[in-house]
Amino acid sequence: MRRQLPLLVEEATDISTEARSRFSDVRARIEFLMANDLDFRGADTGYATHHLHSFAARFPPQLPRYFIEALTDPEEIVLDPMVGSGTTVVEAALLGRKGIGIDLDPLAILISKAKTTPVAFEALLEAGKRVLTCTHRLLKDGLNIGDVLSPDPATEDFVQYWFLPRTQQELTALVQAIREESSPSIRRFLLVILSSIIVTKSGGVSLARDLAHSRPHRDMDKSVPSALELFQTRFRRARPDNSLPVGSSIIIHGDAQHLPLPTESVHLVVTSPPYANAIDYMRAHKFSLVWMGKSIQELSQWRSRHIGSEKIHPIEMENLPSLAQNVVRELSTQDSRKARVLARYFAEMTNVLREVWRVLRPGAAAIFVVGTSTIRGINVQTHLCLTEIATHVGFEMVRIAERRLDRDRRMMPARQGGNRSTIEQRMHHEYVISLIKPESR
Ligand SMILES: C[S@@+](CC[C@H](N)C(=O)[O-])C[C@H]1O[C@@H](n2cnc3c(N)ncnc32)[C@H](O)[C@@H]1O
Repeated sequence: MRRQLPLLVEEATDISTEARSRFSDVRARIEFLMANDLDFRGADTGYATHHLHSFAARFPPQLPRYFIEALTDPEEIVLDPMVGSGTTVVEAALLGRKGIGIDLDPLAILISKAKTTPVAFEALLEAGKRVLTCTHRLLKDGLNIGDVLSPDPATEDFVQYWFLPRTQQELTALVQAIREESSPSIRRFLLVILSSIIVTKSGGVSLARDLAHSRPHRDMDKSVPSALELFQTRFRRARPDNSLPVGSSIIIHGDAQHLPLPTESVHLVVTSPPYANAIDYMRAHKFSLVWMGKSIQELSQWRSRHIGSEKIHPIEMENLPSLAQNVVRELSTQDSRKARVLARYFAEMTNVLREVWRVLRPGAAAIFVVGTSTIRGINVQTHLCLTEIATHVGFEMVRIAERRLDRDRRMMPARQGGNRSTIEQRMHHEYVISLIKPESR
């Protein structure tokens, strides 16, 4: 029977403990876990370092915690091959497991590293004071934004278009002051705070009106807050977490389709891939990454490698299982371009599932959290298509459960070329797919 009460951290722990004590068999444990409430509505999602930076479509920390606690032992390896803002690896570290997080997005890597590296509170306070003093001095003495930006016209044009001159000055001074800090973990922590004042639903200190839902629009009438004041406010609120064990997490800039990990080395995977045709992380993240010296061209190249991106590659349709083939065919009668984008999504997710299967130990579980999408009026049923692909790859499906989204609290992803109403239609719920790699094939 589904529980009615919201699951808070302690409750997630209680159920995980009950699953462990009642069932020694992994499959039975997963069945028990999946039959409970996975909504985690009303739960505190900002503890430890989870509050540091917003991130589209991240999951509540209770979700990975719940599965990690029930399905692994301390010191075992938990992998998130599309780690985003690092929720899974933070929870793995807090529970004494070894977390490995992989992502293609440089901002995801920066945030995940900052969230999983312990930083001494006193040292951070001192660094914050130094950075503010240095920023004021630089602003007084004059500075050159070319010292922090990539030296190419596209990046410069982007910054001129999206940021007011005074904001450009403040951000340049802050970045330069942060660069003077000698400790890499403190620099990273401060850069994440800086990024958190740019990448927000409202477009933060940029002139973008809406970075969360749609193609950003420049609003010259926007009342842009002072970057320096906002940085100070965010800094005061940010809490490093010293309880994180040193060296418990590994964060790698890489592609989930080619995992740089040995075969049968991982005890559990908990991950949430991008939505089919929905997420354009780079569109929002480049607003922050340009201030870290990345060029617009470099970021576009990364973007085209993202799963779900609109760049089309030739796909062997006959390699996809029937549900995926059918929905791609149905869509191609409405929009052949979108059908090819969807075919690419399924082909790339096949590669990810194959790699996850390879690195998992026999008998271990993989938990995939996916949203479904409506494209040109067609309900794509991504969860069913991915489950079918997973079983083709060799997984056993245990159960699919639906979870409702806490829409008021969640930053929704930007959709490629789409409007808000379609996204809102789609985002009321998502699915949790539980899979097991069988002991022997
Ligand atoms: C839904 S988000 C993950 C959010 C994460 N669960 C969290 O709580 O923050 C999906 C992530 O997949 C990443 N991604 C997309 N294509 C990828 C690829 N080929 N390899 C690795 N990561 C990829 C995106 O950059 C994004 O960070």
